[in-house]
Amino acid sequence: MTLGRTLAVGLLGLTGSVVEVEAHLAAALPAFVLVGLPDASLAEARDRVRAAVGSSGLTWPNRRVTVNLTPAGVPKSGPGFDLAVAVAVLAASGLLDARRAARTVHLGELGLDGRLRPVRGVLPAVAAAVAAGWPDVVVPVADVPEATLVPGARVVGCASLAAVVARHGGQVAVPDVAPVPPSRRTASGGTSRGDLSDVLGQHEARWAVEVAAAGAHHLLLLGPPGAGKTMLASRLPGVLPDLDEADAVEVTGVHSVAGVFDPDGGLLRRPPFEDPHHTATAASIVGGGSGTPRPGAASRAHRGVLFLDEAPEFRTAVLQTLRQPLEHGELVIHRAAGAARYPARFQLVLAANPCPCGQAYGQGLGCGCTSGDRRRYLGRLDGPLLDRVDVQVEVPPVRPGTLGRDAESTADVAERVGAARTAQRSRWRGTPWRVNSEVPGRALRDLLRPDPGLLAEVDTAVEQGRLTLRGADRALRLAWTVADLAGRDAPTRPDVDAGVALRSRGRAGL
Ligand SMILES: Nc1ncnc2c1ncn2[C@@H]1O[C@H](COP(=O)(O)OP(=O)(O)OP(=O)(O)O)[C@@H](O)[C@H]1O
Ligand SMILES: [Mg+2]
Ligand SMILES: [Zn+2]
Repeated sequence: MTLGRTLAVGLLGLTGSVVEVEAHLAAALPAFVLVGLPDASLAEARDRVRAAVGSSGLTWPNRRVTVNLTPAGVPKSGPGFDLAVAVAVLAASGLLDARRAARTVHLGELGLDGRLRPVRGVLPAVAAAVAAGWPDVVVPVADVPEATLVPGARVVGCASLAAVVARHGGQVAVPDVAPVPPSRRTASGGTSRGDLSDVLGQHEARWAVEVAAAGAHHLLLLGPPGAGKTMLASRLPGVLPDLDEADAVEVTGVHSVAGVFDPDGGLLRRPPFEDPHHTATAASIVGGGSGTPRPGAASRAHRGVLFLDEAPEFRTAVLQTLRQPLEHGELVIHRAAGAARYPARFQLVLAANPCPCGQAYGQGLGCGCTSGDRRRYLGRLDGPLLDRVDVQVEVPPVRPGTLGRDAESTADVAERVGAARTAQRSRWRGTPWRVNSEVPGRALRDLLRPDPGLLAEVDTAVEQGRLTLRGADRALRLAWTVADLAGRDAPTRPDVDAGVALRSRGRAGL
C-alpha cells in the first residue's frame, strides 16, 4: 500500500465542505510535502503531525510523503486537519485499515505528544459531513457532546492519535492519557439576568423595552446615571421568545466557531446577549484572527441582543463597523481563501447618558454642559446608527412615588411579546421579513394600507413638519407593533400616537 486517504471538513464562515485528504508514498528521498492550497496554519500542521506520529510509537515512513487536499477550491482551514493528515499517511504505510479510514471523517488538532486537542466549529463541520453523506466521524473526546448534537452523526471520540489508529485496526499501544479538556470561555446567551419585576417605576421605559422586544426594534435608552438603563437592557433578552429550530442551529454554529459554546445544554435555544465593553476593539466586534476567523460580538449576538452600554464612549471605528451588519444582517471577513460570512442580525440596544454630566433629561435644568458639549456627545451616535433605531426613549430618575408598586414580571411581558411575534409571522408570511422592524417603509405603506384616514394624518404631520418622512415610517412601524401587542389586526390612531411617542427621546428631530 502506498496510497491512503481519508476525509476532513474545511470551513468558510459557517459553510463546511468535505475535503479528501490523500497521502502518497514514493520511493524517493524522504520528505513531507503538503499540497492543495494549504493556508499558513497547515504548514505548522506538518510539524505537529510528524511529531505526533513519532510520539504515538508509530514509524514515520522513510519515503517521500505527499499529502494532497482536494478539491483545490475549498478553503483548508477549519477544525484541525492534523488528524486527517496523520490518518492518511498511516493508511498509506499500511499501519491501519485503509478502507475504514477512507470512509471516516477525522477532525482534530494533534499535540506534539500525540494527544488530540478539541477544535472550534465542530457543529457546522459535522453537519456538513453528514449532509454530504459521511456520517462516520472521529473527533477529540472533548468535542463529542457537540458532534452528537448533529442528527444522524455516528460519532467516535478519541483522546489520542494512537487511540484512533487502534480503532481502525492498527497495532499500537494506546496510552492511558487524560483527554485534553475543552478550552471555553463563558458561554453567552441563555443565562438568566434578573427579572423585569426588579425594575421599579420607569413605566415608559419598560413599555419601550416591551415594544422593542415585540417588533425586534433597535432601542436607545437615554437618561441620567443610576436610573436603571443597564438593568432594563439586560432584561430585554428574557422577554424574547425561544429561537426556532433553524435559528438555534445557526446561532449555535456561530458560537461553536467562536469557541464559546458549551454543548452540555444542547443547542442554544435562547436569544444570545452580548454586551462588549466600551473599550472593545473593532476586531472584537466584527471578528477575525488567523485560520478560521472567529466571529465577533456582533455575530455572536445573531438573533439576539447586542447591547452597547455607555454607547457614546465606544470608539468611532467600532460604531462604524456596525453599519454593515445593521444594513445586511451579516459580517464578511475577507481571507486569502475567500470571504467568511457570519450572520449578524441582532437587535441593537444602546444606553447613554444624555450629555457628559448626565443631567440633561426632561427640561435639562440640572445640566451644566454647554449646548456644544451636548450635541457632540450624542452626535457620535447620530447618523447611520441612530437612523435605524426605531425606539428612542428617555429614562428619567425613578420618582419616589412609583417605588412601592408591584412591577410586572419577565414572564408576563414575555407572553404578550410571544403573541405579538406570532401575529407578525403570520402577517409577513411569504415575504422576506419576520418582524415589523425589518419591513421597509415603502412596504409598510403600500402592502398594508392601514386605515387611509390614519395614513392621511401621518401625511399631514409630515407636511406640517411635525414628522420627517423617516419619522413617519418609524411611527407606522411602531404602530403596527403596538397593535400586535394589543392583539389588534391593524393600528388605530392612538397606536400611531404611541409610535410617535416611542421616538420622542425628550427632544425634537423625529
Ligand atoms: N428603576 C429602578 N428600579 C430598581 N432599582 C434601580 C432602578 N434604577 C436604578 N436602580 C438601582 O441602581 C443601580 C444602578 O442602575 P443601572 O446600572 O441600571 O443604572 P444606569 O441607568 O445604567 O446608570 P449609569 O448611567 O450610571 O450606567 C441598580 O443596580 C439598582 O440597584
Ligand atoms: Mg448603566
Ligand atoms: Zn450635562
